[in-house]
Amino acid sequence: MSGGSLAGRRAMITGAGRGLGAAIARRLWEEGASLVLVARTGAQLRATAEGLPPRDGQRADVHVVDLEAFGAVGEAAGGAAAAAERLLESVGRDGPLDILVNNAAIQGPIGPLWENDWIEWTRAIAVDFLAPAALCRAAIPRMRPGGAIVNVSGGGAASGRPRFSAYACAKTALVRLTEILAEEARPHGIRVNALAPGVMPTSMLAEIERAGAAAGGRDFETARAALQRADPAAFAAPAELCAWLVSDRAVSVTGRLISAVWDPWREWSATPPALEGTDLYTLRRVTPPSPGRPG
Ligand SMILES: NC(=O)c1ccc[n+]([C@@H]2O[C@H](COP(=O)([O-])OP(=O)(O)OC[C@H]3O[C@@H](n4cnc5c(N)ncnc54)[C@H](OP(=O)(O)O)[C@@H]3O)[C@@H](O)[C@H]2O)c1
Repeated sequence: MSGGSLAGRRAMITGAGRGLGAAIARRLWEEGASLVLVARTGAQLRATAEGLPPRDGQRADVHVVDLEAFGAVGEAAGGAAAAAERLLESVGRDGPLDILVNNAAIQGPIGPLWENDWIEWTRAIAVDFLAPAALCRAAIPRMRPGGAIVNVSGGGAASGRPRFSAYACAKTALVRLTEILAEEARPHGIRVNALAPGVMPTSMLAEIERAGAAAGGRDFETARAALQRADPAAFAAPAELCAWLVSDRAVSVTGRLISAVWDPWREWSATPPALEGTDLYTLRRVTPPSPGRPG
């Protein structure tokens, strides 16, 4: 079996056909993990799998799934939960799952809420929040102690992002769920973190560029500049951070939202951060100092 920090582990990565998901797949593979690649487009998933250099004892399986189906609500939610469980059962037949990376997402409608197509708005909530939640729900009882989940966050999770309400609200909810699940899964030896990858030139940014003025000046300019630079290095830091977060090296880190771009996570490999009992790297209400309340 190949060496590496994830040797002998098995990781499911959603949205692994292109963009960040494909970069994370390649990085976890380098670290020795076997992979379960999930998205709608089988050809892209197979291209990711076929692009991996052969390594002894590792395998990459492909599951073509529309995650929107896992986000159904109301009467249909029972079927959605059962579908998520069936996927995990099917993945589990080839060996236990140690790692889940909820990376797949869609941009959703761009513009003020009242101009958004309501079906598209709820679709973004389904794919970006309800589906990852359903996958966590199905995966955690089936994971071994030492398991780890990474939920990929996005712009608007930690601050207001006008014109991207569906995407931003879904990502905020995903980060809050991460914090809650970290505590619920702690007794089972499973860690749950969120990762903010930074701006990367992908089809998601192309949608923002296409939206033009509806996206607002700053988002449009940021997207256009990143697409023009087309810097492949933009994927390296988030993929590296993901590999670190799911490894035993990050054993003291759970329930946190870590930015690949802004946070000193590279230093933590040498000196593990003392985060327990602090609000560091979490979503909190910012208030002025007040007597009797901890700062
Ligand atoms: N790009 C950025 O600047 C940026 C910034 C911050 C955060 N992020 C986050 O990074 C993650 C990856 O984004 P990306 O930029 O790499 O996007 P991307 O290139 O558009 O890739 C998205 C992936 O998700 C899959 N996906 C979308 N809808 C799906 C569905 N209904 N069922 C199954 N799979 C589905 C896509 O495959 P199919 O279409 O084949 O299904 C694709 O593999 C997302 O969580 C995103 O929110 C991106």
